[in-house]
This record gives sequence, C-alpha cells and structure tokens, in this order.
Amino acid sequence: MSETAIDLSSSPARAPHVIAIASGKGGVGKTNLTANLAVALAGRGLRVCVLDADLGLANLDVLYGLSPERSLRDVVRGECGLPDVVVEGPGGVRVIPAASGFEELTRLGADERLRLLAEMDGLEDSVDVLLVDTAAGISANVLYFTAAAADALIVITPEPTSLTDAYALVKVLATRYGRRDFLVTVNMAAGEADAEAAFRRLARVAERFLRVRLEYQGYVPYDDALPRAVRQQHPVVLAAPGSPASQALVALAARLAVRPAAGPTGGVQFFFRRLVGEGRA
Ligand SMILES: Nc1ncnc2c1ncn2[C@@H]1O[C@H](COP(=O)(O)OP(=O)(O)OP(=O)(O)O)[C@@H](O)[C@H]1O
Ligand SMILES: [Mg+2]
Repeated sequence: MSETAIDLSSSPARAPHVIAIASGKGGVGKTNLTANLAVALAGRGLRVCVLDADLGLANLDVLYGLSPERSLRDVVRGECGLPDVVVEGPGGVRVIPAASGFEELTRLGADERLRLLAEMDGLEDSVDVLLVDTAAGISANVLYFTAAAADALIVITPEPTSLTDAYALVKVLATRYGRRDFLVTVNMAAGEADAEAAFRRLARVAERFLRVRLEYQGYVPYDDALPRAVRQQHPVVLAAPGSPASQALVALAARLAVRPAAGPTGGVQFFFRRLVGEGRA
C-alpha cells in the first residue's frame, strides 16, 4: 500500500475524517460514488477505508470484485479481530464489510460495545478518511450511521422524486439529530446547468424551511462508462479514467480531500462511539 501521504504533510495528527454517503431515494448512485471516491482519494495519497453499511444488491463488494467471508458481526461477537475482517480493494482501499451485521451494530450490549470500540481504535492511526456507504431511505439504521458521521454527503439526481426524498432525509437528520450542515452532490446529471438547478431546488426549500446549510460539491454526469465499469466489477476511475464520470469523481475527491469536516470531529473512534451508544432518537 502506498505510504506517500502527500496531502497529510501539513496535518499529520489530524483525526480521520468520517463521511457518510446517503440519499433519500434508492439507486441514485451512492455505492458507485463511494467506491470511486475511495479509490480517487487513495490516489491522492490518503489512507482510505470504506464501511459497507449498504444491504442493497449492488453493494460495494460486488463493485470491487471482492467476496469477503467475514463482517463486523464476527468482531462484535469476539470471533475475530478487525484486521481479519478488513479486505483490500482496488487502489489499496480497505473495506470493512458490515452488511450482514450492521443492524446489530446499533443495539449492542455493553461487552460487545467495548469490544467493537477497542477494535476500532486500531483504525484511528491508520486511516485518513472513512467513507460510510449507507442504504437508501430513512430507516433508523441509515439515520444512525449518517448522524454519527462528521459529514453527510447527500446524493441526489435531477429527478423530482430524488429531491423530495432527499428533503425528507435532511429534515429528519436536522430535526431529530440536530445536523445543520450537509454536503450535496448531483449524480446522473445531463450537465452543469441541470445539476445546479437540481441543487438549487433542494437548497432553496431546505434552507428556508429547515434552516440548514447545504453545500454544493459538484456533479457527476450520466455516463455509460459507469454501468460498463460496474459490469467489469472495476471502479470506473480505474477502468475508464478519461471518461467524463471519472473526471468528475476525481474532482469531487479533490474537493473533499481539502475540506475540513463540518460536523463534530474526533475520528473513527468518535464515530463508532456515537453509532453504538449516543444520539438516539
Ligand atoms: N453517473 C452515472 N451514470 C450512469 N449510470 C450510473 C451513474 N451513477 C450510477 N449509475 C448506475 O445506477 C445504478 C445504481 O447505482 P448504485 O448502486 O451506486 O446506487 P445506490 O444509490 O447505491 O443504490 P441503493 O440505494 O440500492 O444502495 C447502477 O446500475 C449504476 O451503474
Ligand atoms: Mg448502494
């Protein structure tokens, strides 16, 4: 794995930045965005870990061509340590498969909680960015994962249903969990104008009625190279680096890499602490 860590030279002791990728509507591209952002961030010299909290069919393992045998559930049950669960994906990205155990993660007993937190300690010094790929919708588990992260990156598409569902998600995170700042990216846009219009439609109502701040992070165009890469089980930023989608994803990664966390920092340990014990509705 690369240890160049170019971007870190100015802030060697910074706590890992935890970013949850969420959406109201399903199928807007969260998992693909997560998979490719992770690889693009790793390409910038950052040490990237992805927590797969998505129970969807096209999950992260499939996109990376991995078939992990263990998940966080085994760690929680004391059957193995975190290093036994983590699998390495393209570009040196590390993946923590949580899918089969993530429902349990949010309601652990005291012993299990301590065990998980102790294992997660190991990540604190070896990870710069933890991306959390969540499932669609506003189920309790999606909310826990998203509320616990320092940043929430909301993925929308220009479709009206995606905007109304994103509004519902932002509303519940704001009213029930007190989150005020949201990052937003528009996926599958026809172009810049289309993407910016979609963002403005969401931002206008959210800022007015929910008193939250939405920060536009750019867009990823609709691009056939992406589904092609999915079929090859290879992230598009590696499979077709020159494609419009890849260039947009690399630009998105560049923007996120230099951005300070909007929410409470405190790294991976803090994220898991909140996840397993605090901030419940
Ligand atoms: N920019 C894009 N251009 C073209 N197709 C895309 C783009 N982004 C995603 N897709 C396609 O959309 C589909 C859904 O993507 P993905 O599985 O990443 O969405 P998701 O939000 O994670 O879904 P779920 O809510 O089920 O977890 C995939 O088949 C993918 O190939
Ligand atoms: Mg998904």
